[in-house]
Amino acid sequence: MIQFPENPEAYTDEIVRLMEQHVNPGLARVMRFAGLGVEFYAEGCYVWDAEGKKFLDCLGGYGMFALGHRHPKVVEAVKQQLDRMPMPSKIMFNAPQARLAEKMAQVLPGNLPFTFFCNSGTEAVEGAIKLARKYTGKHKMISTVGSYHGKTMGSLSASGREIYRKPFDPLLPGFEHVPFGDYAAAEAAMTDEIAGIILEPIQGEGGIRIPDDDYMPRLRALCDRYNAVLVVDEVQTGLGRVGKWFGVDLFGVQPDIITLAKSLGGGVMPIGSFSASEAIWVEAFGDNPLIHTSTFGGNELACAAGIATVEVIESEGLVQQSHEMGDYFMRGLRDIQTQHPDFVKEVRGRGLMIGVEFHEADYGELTITGMIQRGVIAAYTLNNPKVIRIEPPLMISREEIDFALHVFAESAQAAKELLVEVMA
Ligand SMILES: Cc1ncc(COP(=O)(O)O)c(C=O)c1O
Repeated sequence: MIQFPENPEAYTDEIVRLMEQHVNPGLARVMRFAGLGVEFYAEGCYVWDAEGKKFLDCLGGYGMFALGHRHPKVVEAVKQQLDRMPMPSKIMFNAPQARLAEKMAQVLPGNLPFTFFCNSGTEAVEGAIKLARKYTGKHKMISTVGSYHGKTMGSLSASGREIYRKPFDPLLPGFEHVPFGDYAAAEAAMTDEIAGIILEPIQGEGGIRIPDDDYMPRLRALCDRYNAVLVVDEVQTGLGRVGKWFGVDLFGVQPDIITLAKSLGGGVMPIGSFSASEAIWVEAFGDNPLIHTSTFGGNELACAAGIATVEVIESEGLVQQSHEMGDYFMRGLRDIQTQHPDFVKEVRGRGLMIGVEFHEADYGELTITGMIQRGVIAAYTLNNPKVIRIEPPLMISREEIDFALHVFAESAQAAKELLVEVMA
């Protein structure tokens, strides 16, 4: 039985103070204002704060908790590895790394037999950009407006939101951002100098934006015509989140390079990856196998978690579960939308990557606050505050979805009433 702090209020006050004094004062103030507590314990689809209050996790750590919190098979694999060898010597062969790379080759779309492991999504994108440049011998890239690829300098250069980019100019040269979903714009930007197109199959932080069915296949053909590579960033969409193994599977497209992170560590270990074809790998690493390295990348603990994660997704049928539960969740949300059409603009998604777009950002913010007060965690998308994202663990049950829907409906109603009061 878990022991919560004896004096949870003092415990919470202390952590908030430390966050304010030593981590991020601005963020701590916003969190305090939103009434958020200190997370203390987590299991399955739930998180408990230090006061013992239980929350249904419909945010899933921005897509990290595909397997929920502390999945026993992932925890067990990590514990066993921890007792043997958690970190690599870096000079000997590393079995979990080799086995996970093989497993990835089996599940990845198309023919992408080679994988490099790193520690986060942004690092995966950095590696993918380097690969695209080295393979093609070109440096310019097309990416999309509203995209999110991470916040280190290379991935930030690819990301499509000015407020995060502007303070750090000049970023990597040669990135052109075209509107997402607009094939004509991508075609107009394409030249013989372009190394590749990088995009998310469904924009996550951009507001759960889904392109038309022919968009990705046409980009694929465009890249082929210009000897450019198609880089898909599946850090958020990958590994069952969208009701298919990968976002590109929704569109029947095979990428040249794919990035993963978030759920690859099963919500237990941080790990990212980028994978590519043999031709790309030989060009990138052939003349210098140490051209791209990472001390922690490919460490045994993270790779043990990765192997267990892919096995759990397979053995528990989580891809199908994501598809079915996603449909159920979206049907419920659309029923609520029809009751509040002036408030909720649209419900969209694939699998359990769901966006609820409000007519105004305030509506969404108030609804999220109400949901958290009522015991359901949700958040808006980083590049589009009008959209709440719903990305629960893939094993969420119908009963849990019913509870989340009930809380969403109540919170939307309360937010509407509050706004009417404020306007009066
Ligand atoms: C599509 C995509 N790429 C990259 C990243 C960056 O991942 P990380 O935060 O692990 O660096 C994210 C994070 O949200 C993402 O959604």
